Amino acid sequence: MSKTGKIEYGTFEATLERSRKLEEDLPIHPEKYRVLTGDRPTGSLHVGHLFGSVQNRVRLHRMGVHTFIVIADYQVLTDRDTFEMIAENVKQLTLDYMSAGIDPTDGKTFIFPHSHVPELNQLLLPFLTLVTNAELDRNPTVREEIQASGQKRINAGMYTYPVHQAADILFCKGNVVPVGKDQLPHLELTRVIARRFNEKFAANRPVFPEPQPLLSQAPVILGLDGSQKMSKSRNNAVMLRATEDETASLIKKAKTDADRLITYDPEKRPEVSNLLLLISLCTGQAPEKIAAEIGDGGAGMLKKRLTETLNEYLRPLRKRRSELENNMDHIRQVLKDGVAEARRIASATLEEVIEVMNMKI
Ligand code: TRP
Repeated sequence: MSKTGKIEYGTFEATLERSRKLEEDLPIHPEKYRVLTGDRPTGSLHVGHLFGSVQNRVRLHRMGVHTFIVIADYQVLTDRDTFEMIAENVKQLTLDYMSAGIDPTDGKTFIFPHSHVPELNQLLLPFLTLVTNAELDRNPTVREEIQASGQKRINAGMYTYPVHQAADILFCKGNVVPVGKDQLPHLELTRVIARRFNEKFAANRPVFPEPQPLLSQAPVILGLDGSQKMSKSRNNAVMLRATEDETASLIKKAKTDADRLITYDPEKRPEVSNLLLLISLCTGQAPEKIAAEIGDGGAGMLKKRLTETLNEYLRPLRKRRSELENNMDHIRQVLKDGVAEARRIASATLEEVIEVMNMKI
């Protein structure tokens, strides 16, 4: 924050540098950190999520870092009118996380929908008094989402969900938040709220940490149309839960170009390069090397190679997923345990907050 009280986003390079330092320290001192991450339950996950954020979470989880995964079900109401599938999507997301390697039975990892944690939601009230309308209105990610939503009437939840997100992060005093670039404005707001809360109410003993973003190193995965980010709503995604045949037919329809000689050139040949990148993420081989191997085999050979590689890569994950799917009681129990732990921690935080605000009677 500057002297004028405006939120400053800082340079991206500075954020990246801090994120790198954090990355180095995490495996050395996993006990110093509490990771908080989250998703909206708008559907099950696809390959872009897997390589973009989920594998990063699995990696932190395996270092033994205490992790909370919040499923932001209230946030779904901010930019769409449909809500029939919310609870089902919460369960599907949990299945996806667990089949990708998150093990919530380790006693250090909790998955919960924030709607079930009233003490967390209550933090929203004091937090709303710490930011101005103008600050909320300036949030670049919210502005983009308003454009993308196509809604004519924007509800106040849309402008204020970043404050709710601050409650998602601060209720458990999370200090590391793995995010993509689009979430940085929300994280900056969370840091501002933590700082203003501490300054105003708790100058002598700060209640909240200022959480650090951990920027994902993973590249952005384009959809099979090669022109935009992979996303279920854009119909260009391979879902983790898709069958091998569905995966094959999706890849068959993927957009490529007319040049038979396969080369890796993300600038000039985004479609072909994205398919090469996907193979590379599955095999660990450099995309240039894969391109050279395919040579003038053309798009047909590239697609065949991707289909085989991706299906093989996802096979164990999909097998775990179908096993888990047969025991939805277990999934419900995982969520119940997550809610119970989140409530235990949120109650303690709310207690502290009420005390420093002089509201204890
Ligand atoms: N805003 C995030 C998204 O749209 C979801 C989210 C909600 C979140 N609460 C969070 C992400 C807390 C990280 C931490 O994807």
